[in-house]
Amino acid sequence: MKTRAPYLRGASIAGTGSAVPERILTNFDLEKMVDTSDEWIVERTGIKERRIAAEGTATSDLAKEAALKALDDAGMTSDELDLVIVATVTPDTIFPSCACVLQREIGAKNAAAFDISAGCTGFVYALSVARELVASGRYDNVLVIGAEILSRIVDWEDRNTCVLFGDGAGAAVIRPCAFGEGIIECVLRSDGSHGDALVLPAGGSKMPASHGTVDSRLHYIQMKGNLVYRFAVRVMVEAAVEALNKANLKKEDVDYIIPHQANQRLIDLAAERLGAQDKVFSNIARLGNTSAASIPIALDEAARSGRLKNGDMVMLVGFGAGLTWGSVILKWNKGQPDSGNM
Ligand code: UT7
Repeated sequence: MKTRAPYLRGASIAGTGSAVPERILTNFDLEKMVDTSDEWIVERTGIKERRIAAEGTATSDLAKEAALKALDDAGMTSDELDLVIVATVTPDTIFPSCACVLQREIGAKNAAAFDISAGCTGFVYALSVARELVASGRYDNVLVIGAEILSRIVDWEDRNTCVLFGDGAGAAVIRPCAFGEGIIECVLRSDGSHGDALVLPAGGSKMPASHGTVDSRLHYIQMKGNLVYRFAVRVMVEAAVEALNKANLKKEDVDYIIPHQANQRLIDLAAERLGAQDKVFSNIARLGNTSAASIPIALDEAARSGRLKNGDMVMLVGFGAGLTWGSVILKWNKGQPDSGNM
């Protein structure tokens, strides 16, 4: 039995923001690019369209737009931040990190900054790390971002993958709060033995970029879709149940589930197994799978549309490359006094 370090205070989301590119790519556009159909894509995935970043736009640009909205929502300025964490698999460059580029771009001059690579589970991982650092008293104001331009690593000749993904960014500012409020429980898991199910083979130290790797299209996403699908349904349910058990909550206590937006069928099946079909938030039809950005964009949309009310119990649950998966349960308390800071 692991003993847990005591927390000094709670940690909660004080503001959210999101950004998606203007350009819309519809299923009908894709019909002209690969051997697919609107009917197949909608039936198998629920996706109707996705957003694609303009040439010259970098992941940090979308992250910046989302970050500034989240700071504004939290009523804060960037120099108050003491940490910036960006979850992404599509950083501007392998190094420096996307978080350091973002820190410079928003003028967060008092902040440390680093990236997290956990595929589509990246935001759940980053939020969990932020929670530990704030609740332990080490940091006060942490900016957590999930941001991706997947369209740059998608093989636009591969119908198995190119119909799924889109670009975007979502952000949250994490601040201290009273015990029992804000983030209640986090579950993080991984199984590297299935890493080859979802992989970008070339461009790293194992297979550096060369004419050969480019010619072989190895700088694009490769995915065993059906394997990931079956894995995802199982682990989403497991992660949700584990978080509920740890938090001593019942599924009836949860008001909203914001799952990783990977596939509507997959989301529906996991929700059915959890007995929580009516609690799920989905925007996949409009945005497709934006990897680490999908949960924070959905969270921001749910918050800004007024769906989330203070006191609501919200579950975030995701899975992705690694393979990784995890969940967060939080009590929505945006705008409440920072009583944990006293
Ligand atoms: O964020 C994590 C990232 N990954 C995921 O979330 C992926 C999870 N997996 C999925 O969402 C689904 O597995 C897919 C949507 C990728 C595929 O759906 P599926 O129902 O598992 O289809 P499948 O891979 O078993 O393929 C069925 C058929 C195949 O044809 P044959 O071999 O039966 O003749 C595919 O070639 O569908 C074909 N197919 C397509 N047909 C039309 C695959 N992609 C397409 C397409 N248009 N875009």
